[in-house]
Amino acid sequence: MSGFDADWLARREPFDAKARDGALAAGFAQSLRPAPGGVRRIIDLAAGTGSNFRALAPRLGGDQEWLLVDHDPRLREAQAGTIAHWAARAGWTCQVVGDALEVRAGAARWCARAHAFDLAGSLDALDLSRFDGVTTAAFLDLVSADWLDRLVDQLAGAGRPLLAVLTVDGRRDWSPPMAADRPLQRAFQSHQGGDKGFGPALGGEATASLERRLVARGFAVATAPSDWRIDAADRDFLSQMVREASAVACEAEPLASAAFARWRAGREAQIQTGRLALTVGHRDLLALPP
Ligand SMILES: C[S@@+](CC[C@H](N)C(=O)[O-])C[C@H]1O[C@@H](n2cnc3c(N)ncnc32)[C@H](O)[C@@H]1O
Repeated sequence: MSGFDADWLARREPFDAKARDGALAAGFAQSLRPAPGGVRRIIDLAAGTGSNFRALAPRLGGDQEWLLVDHDPRLREAQAGTIAHWAARAGWTCQVVGDALEVRAGAARWCARAHAFDLAGSLDALDLSRFDGVTTAAFLDLVSADWLDRLVDQLAGAGRPLLAVLTVDGRRDWSPPMAADRPLQRAFQSHQGGDKGFGPALGGEATASLERRLVARGFAVATAPSDWRIDAADRDFLSQMVREASAVACEAEPLASAAFARWRAGREAQIQTGRLALTVGHRDLLALPP
């Protein structure tokens, strides 16, 4: 299984929400060509608990039907509760209709349906031409170049727009800098390039790699930064980032564990005194079919 838990996805969601590029999301909204009757049909690849639905549904406008694809049953099960909670906080109604969850936001009706699917297998069964648009968030850095080839084949065959957001681009800027940041980052990146179920992961190369492939197939592509900015007040999230970075680096380079442990202790002391901030580089991409 993927190893992403609902708690981690909930913690990152506010940082994702602030980081997303609004202009690319608006371009995606404009590119959707709903079927007669006006319902926009969207597929979200690797949807987790539905964060991308929550961020985009209010921006796309009109009635929408979403297919939230993920292979992890725990995350799919969490979708309904998370979406219901979000809708209630916004003052919208939410009810189960058949196998979908229906949010009513003013005159608009947004339907979200969970779909169990292993994206590492064949993508043919998803038949992207059944949707007006394809989206994914915080996912493409996990996949390989071969997998991107298959995705782009499907998109080109279906002639559909893609909005792929919050893909890590490899940058991590710790402030203030420390000497061990670089070796730690090298170890972290070598771990990111491991196989996450799709072959060697592209990590920070994913967006550039996807852009080249889409342009070669005639798509009009635009990208924009969508960096997380984690400031000194976000102590819990900073602690989690420090713990995770040091654990991953130790796993990738056990011989350097003592140096990484000293780095971690130094960073934790800075968090306690409100002196640490972190920028994590991400990129959003919008591709419009020829
Ligand atoms: C970093 S999470 C992002 C989740 C969600 N898009 C978000 O923005 O919160 C990566 C997601 O990829 C999903 N995933 C990983 N491998 C998968 C696979 N082989 N098939 C389907 N989903 C997969 C995980 O279950 C997880 O939900």
